[in-house]
Amino acid sequence: MLKVSVIILALIATVLAVEYDPYIDITLKKIKTSAQRIESFGYPAETHEVETEDGYLLNMFRIPYSPNLDNVKGPRPAVLIQHGLFSCSDCFLLNGPDNALAYNYADAGYDVWLGNARGNIYSRNHTKMSTKHPYYWAFSWHEIGAYDLPAMIDYILATTGEKAVHYVGHSQGCTTFFVMGATRPEYNDKIKTAHMLAPPIFMGNTTTGIILSLASAVGSPGLGAELLQNQVFLPMNPVVQRILDTACSKDPHFFTFCQILAQWWGDDVGNLNVTLLPQVAETHPAGISTNQGIHFIQSYVSNEFRQYDWGPKTNMDKYGTDVPPSYDITKITSKMYLYSGLADESANVQDIARLPELLPNLQELYEIEDETWGHLDFIFAMQVKETINDKVVAISKQYDNL
Ligand SMILES: *[C@@H]1O[C@H](CO)[C@@H](O)[C@H](O)[C@H]1NC(C)=O
Ligand SMILES: *[C@@H]1O[C@H](CO)[C@@H](O)[C@H](O)[C@H]1NC(C)=O
Ligand SMILES: *[C@@H]1O[C@H](CO)[C@@H](O)[C@H](O)[C@H]1NC(C)=O
Repeated sequence: MLKVSVIILALIATVLAVEYDPYIDITLKKIKTSAQRIESFGYPAETHEVETEDGYLLNMFRIPYSPNLDNVKGPRPAVLIQHGLFSCSDCFLLNGPDNALAYNYADAGYDVWLGNARGNIYSRNHTKMSTKHPYYWAFSWHEIGAYDLPAMIDYILATTGEKAVHYVGHSQGCTTFFVMGATRPEYNDKIKTAHMLAPPIFMGNTTTGIILSLASAVGSPGLGAELLQNQVFLPMNPVVQRILDTACSKDPHFFTFCQILAQWWGDDVGNLNVTLLPQVAETHPAGISTNQGIHFIQSYVSNEFRQYDWGPKTNMDKYGTDVPPSYDITKITSKMYLYSGLADESANVQDIARLPELLPNLQELYEIEDETWGHLDFIFAMQVKETINDKVVAISKQYDNL
């Protein structure tokens, strides 16, 4: 595992170095946006720009209704679906119209909104700052939960006239929901049901290679973190794309490398829909701030769910305490459903098992019975529709007259 990590770190370093070389000339394959993907299957698509309190401009995609239903006039309850780390709105579309969550919701009569966190390919703009400004990248998943999610929810409610939305998050899409529920508890009333697919909250038992291999370097404040924080990590660029595209094509020589990447990310590729891997490679990694990764690694090292650790001095300035304050998740009063996978290395079952006694309105902790169910299987498995999507949609429908 260590050897693989070193190779991949070297690769990342190379890729980062290349990114800033203006002389590199590789033609970027034209990538479809989420809206174009949706339209290519005959569904209506809209793009909406949302401004956060702190000036970030986010793009959301919307499937307002289904061409398979006669529901333009409504009622069409709204759902917000939020992606994980390194990802974007595309991930909930790639399984195609029969099997991807966004279409499954649309075909059940929902007005579907796909969020995009600050910093990813669709949400890389700001009212005042350029992305070259170092402060632009000075955010972690704390800000995504405290600012981006509330802004997107308010925008959906204002546009649709609904009083509340359903929320589905994968991975970091859950972490950010927990941040919102704890720091902006007034938003709990704007949620009908919250579905947390593979939630990395407490992370002491994580075995993900990327986290373990970087823990000693950046898991606690110090030189490592200072060198790395506040910048874009693995930006979407032609080089990254070329490497992943090639690795995840069906060529068996390269496919092993794609498997190594997936495993490094905490997943066995056993259940993954192999047909969509080239599309995953096309759309990922969609860009994050290094602080998001560092914040997760801090969660692993501290075994606490708490705010970003800047080191005692800055913590004192920002929070008034040496150590960062813990998020009070007992304040999350939304109706919550937790989904955990037995082979998930990033959101480990043991860590998820600590949550129920802290959550005041937990409806169910659903452990997927398949012993091989991993972190990415919640969105990309061959069996994702039957195992996850059908259940999530059915539970949502219990709260609406659909
Ligand atoms: C970014 O936002 C600024 C300010 O609102 C706007 O003028 C500009 O057109 C936007 N750029 C892109 C690429 O959308
Ligand atoms: C792993 O999970 C167990 C059970 O929830 C917990 O008590 C323990 O603190 C975790 N281990 C580590 C190293 O965090
Ligand atoms: C696998 O992915 C392909 C390509 O996106 C899609 O057409 C197919 O329906 C998917 N299969 C399943 C079972 O999700």
